[in-house]
Amino acid sequence: MAVKIMAENSLPGMQVLAREAGTPSPRRLEGKVAIVTGGARGIGEAIARLFARHGAKVLIADVDDAAGDALAHALTITSQTIVTFLHCDVCQESDVSRAVDYAVSRHGRLDILVNNAGVLGNQSKKSIMDFDADEFDRVMRINVRGVALGMKHAARVMVPRGTGCIISMASVAGVMGGLGPHTYTASKHAIVGLTKNAACELGKYGIRVNCISPFGVATSMLINAWRGDGDEEDDYMEASRMPKEEEVEKMEEFVASLANLKGTNLKAKDIAEAALYLAGDESKYVSGHNLVVDGGVTTIRNCVGL
Ligand SMILES: NC(=O)c1ccc[n+]([C@@H]2O[C@H](COP(=O)([O-])OP(=O)(O)OC[C@H]3O[C@@H](n4cnc5c(N)ncnc54)[C@H](O)[C@@H]3O)[C@@H](O)[C@H]2O)c1
Repeated sequence: MAVKIMAENSLPGMQVLAREAGTPSPRRLEGKVAIVTGGARGIGEAIARLFARHGAKVLIADVDDAAGDALAHALTITSQTIVTFLHCDVCQESDVSRAVDYAVSRHGRLDILVNNAGVLGNQSKKSIMDFDADEFDRVMRINVRGVALGMKHAARVMVPRGTGCIISMASVAGVMGGLGPHTYTASKHAIVGLTKNAACELGKYGIRVNCISPFGVATSMLINAWRGDGDEEDDYMEASRMPKEEEVEKMEEFVASLANLKGTNLKAKDIAEAALYLAGDESKYVSGHNLVVDGGVTTIRNCVGL
């Protein structure tokens, strides 16, 4: 009994010591309210899962109603927090505005927006001489207009509170050339630019704006793009949305063959950990930053046989 009382008494003190020693608290987003666009599957799903596990109230905003709804139900049961789904096409300003308003009306505020929804676009026409202006408009609407609308409406409710955090999903294709189709590359460079400019403006209101640039993660987006004729939209409609295990393994092997860092594979969960860092208090002075999660692939070219 004496031991039990001692343990109970010492627990809060130990937690303070652990925090002072830099050990992150177990639920790093406890009580925070987050929207994750494109949160029904892939990287967005991993972010929604991790944020919910860390106590955030998560709103999954996606065009995939079935997957988004099912995930929200499952996470509400397993994570002891509230996870909801709302249909939201990030190209539609009314949808984005509604998602932000829904989060505020349901939970009283919005702390974190993750602008994750994005598409790779058609991979079949690689040359700039085959540039397709309609495809350019389609990809830019989702990847860039969607992110800008997210920033606009998140800022609308964050500015009056003088706090908030906006994270957008860029890509290694937004860091250097040769890592994606032309339009996708342009769209991801634009996200990095928008991030820096929005961070510049919103810093005075205590709002941090950052982006993440992952290397290849074996999600539906990447796997469907390398399957068939590379027409992502058709593949999205036809293919089962969950890639098969062997397809994931094959894609991970392919990505690993291009990687600089050996001995490990990049997973969606690793990107979610980067988002958790940027969303949490551990990064309280980080803004305007592009957190590149690529094992060094965009910074290293071994020309001297190291
Ligand atoms: N997978 C990678 O290798 C990789 C690498 C770098 C960056 N990214 C970026 O990460 C983000 C997520 O990619 P992913 O690989 O998880 O893709 P994914 O295709 O597996 O998932 C994308 C999600 O976004 C949703 N979505 C698509 N269009 C939408 C729209 N208009 N409005 C709302 N939701 C929409 C989809 O329904 C889906 O749930 C994208 O921005 C992508 O560009 C991915």
